[in-house]
Amino acid sequence: MAKKNTTNWPLAPAPESKDHFKLKPQYELFIGGKWQKPKSGKYFDTINPANEQKLARIAEAGEADVDAAVKAARKAYDNVWSKMPAAERAKYIYRIARLLQEKARHFAVVESMNGGKAIRESRDVDIPLAAAHFFYYAGWADKLQYAFPGKNPTPLGVAGQIIPWNFPLLMASWKIAPALACGNTVVLKPAETTPLTALLLAELIQEAELPDGVVNIITGAGATGAALVNHPDVNKIAFTGSTGVGKLIQKSIAGTAKKATLELGGKAANIIFADATIDQAVEGIVNGIYFNQGHVCCAGSRLYVEESVHDEVVRKLKHRMKSLVVGDPLDKNTDIGAINSKEQLGIINKYLKIGQEEGADMYQPACDLPGKGYWCRPTLFTNVAQSARIAQEEIFGPVLAIQTFRTVDEVIQKANNTPYGLSAGVWTDKGSKIFNLTTKMRAGVIWANTFNKFDPTSPFGGYKESGYGREGGVHGLGAYLNLN
Ligand code: NAI
Ligand code: MG
Repeated sequence: MAKKNTTNWPLAPAPESKDHFKLKPQYELFIGGKWQKPKSGKYFDTINPANEQKLARIAEAGEADVDAAVKAARKAYDNVWSKMPAAERAKYIYRIARLLQEKARHFAVVESMNGGKAIRESRDVDIPLAAAHFFYYAGWADKLQYAFPGKNPTPLGVAGQIIPWNFPLLMASWKIAPALACGNTVVLKPAETTPLTALLLAELIQEAELPDGVVNIITGAGATGAALVNHPDVNKIAFTGSTGVGKLIQKSIAGTAKKATLELGGKAANIIFADATIDQAVEGIVNGIYFNQGHVCCAGSRLYVEESVHDEVVRKLKHRMKSLVVGDPLDKNTDIGAINSKEQLGIINKYLKIGQEEGADMYQPACDLPGKGYWCRPTLFTNVAQSARIAQEEIFGPVLAIQTFRTVDEVIQKANNTPYGLSAGVWTDKGSKIFNLTTKMRAGVIWANTFNKFDPTSPFGGYKESGYGREGGVHGLGAYLNLN
C-alpha cells in the first residue's frame, strides 16, 4: 500500500526525487532532427560520479558522423533557418525557453546525477539561468539591427560548439541561444562525462518542432571535438574548456576563415579588505570556491586578505567550512556534491599533494565522505607563496589558496600576476577602492561585495590565457554575426 501523509492529500514529488522521469538505456546522435545510430558503431557509458553507477549508453560520433551533422546543419541553414523571418526564429527560441521551464525538475535532477553537482545548484542556478538565456536571446532575434546601429548584421553559417562538464546545460544554452537568434545553425558536442542534459535538450528541441538540422547534438570525447573543429564547412567554433585544448583549437583553425570564441581557464583573485563586512565576505568566499565543487572557471581560488584581518577571516572561514555538507548531490541539504570524474579527482588530489610539498599549511574539516563515488573535502591552504603552483595553476576543485597583502598597489600587482584573467572579486566598504581596483585589474568580470553572479544580459569572457570573445549580452550576439 502506498504510504499516506497525515492529511491524506497526495503530495507532488519533491524536485529532487527521481520518480518523475525515466532515462533511456541508450542515446543515439541527434542529427537532422532524428536520432541516428553512430556510423562509427561505437558507444560509451555515462555514469553517476556520486555512486559510480552507469546511467546510460551514449553514442560516440566518429568523423563520418561529424560530417553528417555538419551537412545537416548546412542544409538547414541554406534552406530554412537563414531564410526565415527573424520574428519566426524568435518564436522557436521562446518555445525552447518555456519548455525548459516546464521540465526544469527533470533537467535539474539529471544534471545532478550525471555531473555530481548539488541539486540546490542545478535547481536554483543552472536550469533557471539556461532558460533565461533562451528567453533573453529570443528577444534579440528580430532586433539585431538595433543592437548594431549602422551595420548590416548577417549570420556566420554553421557553428561548431564544444562545451565542458562543469555547467553542461547552461553552457549548451550560452552557445545555442545566441547562435540561433542570429540565424546560424549549430552542431554542439557536450563533454564526454556529462552528455545527458544536452541529449534531453535535443528531445526538447524535437518537441519544440524546430526545423530539422537547425540544432544537431553529437556526443563523443576529444577526437569528436577535434573532428568538428577541423571540418572544412564549419564557419565558427565556440569552445569552453581547458586552456590546453583552447590552444590546440587556435592552431587547428589558424589560416582558415573560421571565427572563434574561446572561454578557457581561470585563477580568480578574491580580495578582502579590512573594511569589508567580514561575515558577508566569508560567505562570498565559500560561494566562490566551495559551491559547485570548485568546478567553476571563474572560481575565486586565490584569496588575498588584508594582513590585519587575516586571522579573523581564516578563523571564520574554517568555522563555516565545518558546517558545509559534502555528499549525495540529490539531497537538497548538500552544499558540495561529487567531483565530476575520477580524472578530475586525480588532478585535485595531485594539487593537494603539491601544496603540502610546497610548504603550505592545509586545512580540511573532518567530515565523512560516502564510500563510493568521487569526493573531495573543502580545502584551504595558508602560508602560500605567490610563486607556489597552488597559487598559480588552475586546480578546478574545492581548494583555496590564501595569501595576505598590505597595500592596494601590492594586491593589484599580485592579483594580476597570473597567465589568466577571467574574473575577480573585491570586498570593501569603500566605493572608491572598488572603482580603483576594477579599472586596474585585468579580468573580464569583477564582482564587488558578491561573487559568481550571472545574468544573460552581462557579457562574460577573459583576458590573456583565459581566452577571447564574450558570451552573454549584446557582446554575445556580435560573436555570431558578420557586421558589415
Ligand atoms: P577539456 O578542455 O579537455 O574538455 C572540454 C571539452 O573539449 C570537452 O567537450 C572535450 O571533449 C573537448 N575536447 C577535448 N579535447 C579536444 C580537442 N583536441 N579538440 C576539440 N575538443 C576537445 O577539459 P578536461 O580535460 O575535461 O579538463 C581538464 C582541465 O581543464 C580541468 O582540470 C580544468 O582545469 C580545465 N577546465 C576548464 C573549464 C572551463 O570552464 N574553463 C571547463 C572544463 C575543464
Ligand atoms: Mg581534456
